[in-house]
Amino acid sequence: MSPTNHQVRLAARPSGLPKQSDWNFTEEPIPTAGAGEFAVAISHVSLDPAMRGWMNAGASYIDAVEIGDVMRAGAVGRVTASEHPGFAVGDHVYSDFGVQEYAVCDGRGAIKIDPSLAPLPTYLGTLGLPGMTAYFGLLDTGKLKLRDTVVVSGAAGAVGSVAGQIAKIKGARVIGIAGGEQKCRWLTDELGFDAAIDYKAEDVRRALREAAPSGVDVYFDNVGGEILDAVLTRLARGARIVICGAVSQYNATDGVRGPSNYLSLLVARASMTGMVVFDYAAEYGKAAAELAGWMQEGRLISREHIVEGGLSAFHDTLLGLFAGENTGKLVLRVGSD
Ligand SMILES: NC(=O)c1ccc[n+]([C@@H]2O[C@H](COP(=O)([O-])OP(=O)(O)OC[C@H]3O[C@@H](n4cnc5c(N)ncnc54)[C@H](OP(=O)(O)O)[C@@H]3O)[C@@H](O)[C@H]2O)c1
Repeated sequence: MSPTNHQVRLAARPSGLPKQSDWNFTEEPIPTAGAGEFAVAISHVSLDPAMRGWMNAGASYIDAVEIGDVMRAGAVGRVTASEHPGFAVGDHVYSDFGVQEYAVCDGRGAIKIDPSLAPLPTYLGTLGLPGMTAYFGLLDTGKLKLRDTVVVSGAAGAVGSVAGQIAKIKGARVIGIAGGEQKCRWLTDELGFDAAIDYKAEDVRRALREAAPSGVDVYFDNVGGEILDAVLTRLARGARIVICGAVSQYNATDGVRGPSNYLSLLVARASMTGMVVFDYAAEYGKAAAELAGWMQEGRLISREHIVEGGLSAFHDTLLGLFAGENTGKLVLRVGSD
């Protein structure tokens, strides 16, 4: 175990794709827990497209990370010392501990997790915020109904792969959109999607005409941009579009591309609604229990894409999200379980 705490701090606000020089790698003594706190040795850090937005200045659904701060990130680890009545040495915990190897926490926002139920990285994916996002985005914002035709973009990623599988469990017909033949095959052959469209090789609009002949009832949008515009042309009457994210736009330097086909909403009497997972915090427990149940029954497959490189691999691994290098939830290992 390292005697010091290594950290990744935001050094500069990027324009476009983040650069290595946008980060500072620092080291400090391992922090100790004071009264009402516990210390944690972090094993895995979550890498999320949203990190790109948190690097920008300005108001959003959450405060920007300030220059010099440890980069915000969800993480899991093991309690190594505790002065907190609710957490004991040896407990496994999740919180936004940041991109570092050790952290101290006063318990706020920390959740105890059970490694005998699922491996620790699963609590950053299917049983963590991506799983919650898929669950509430589809069932609450998307108002999924039996026999709906559902389209999910970013379908082989952390949120998309869970959203598509929940839709299947709930009796929908599901079409995934993802980059590359291998990802598309994973969606249909292993996750049970009814069809998959490789947006890098196919014309999405034309492919949707074949895969969703009677139109799209729910579009779970993770990517925005051209794919959103293509799906807008195929809406069924009363369709619901869930604006979960727009990863294709997060590094844009010349403004976000809006949907030029938005008048399809009028024609289809459709809606397009944004959702933020944090609004459902009070209900995470219920959703996690249901997701864990489906996993135990073998109806929901959770896949984590774990990069073993430690903090020095953080920058390159983060860029991988924008190049589609991950299948399932992207996680960086920074310490032992
Ligand atoms: N609203 C909320 O509360 C909330 C919470 C969590 C996440 N999100 C959003 O959910 C979305 C998915 O997040 P995630 O964590 O599950 O990430 P992810 O899907 O696991 O990883 C990102 C994926 O996006 C795809 N991608 C990258 N650039 C693209 C482009 N230009 N066009 C189309 N696809 C592109 C890549 O897959 P391909 O190989 O298929 O291109 C990549 O693997 C993101 O937009 C994120 O911001 C929202």
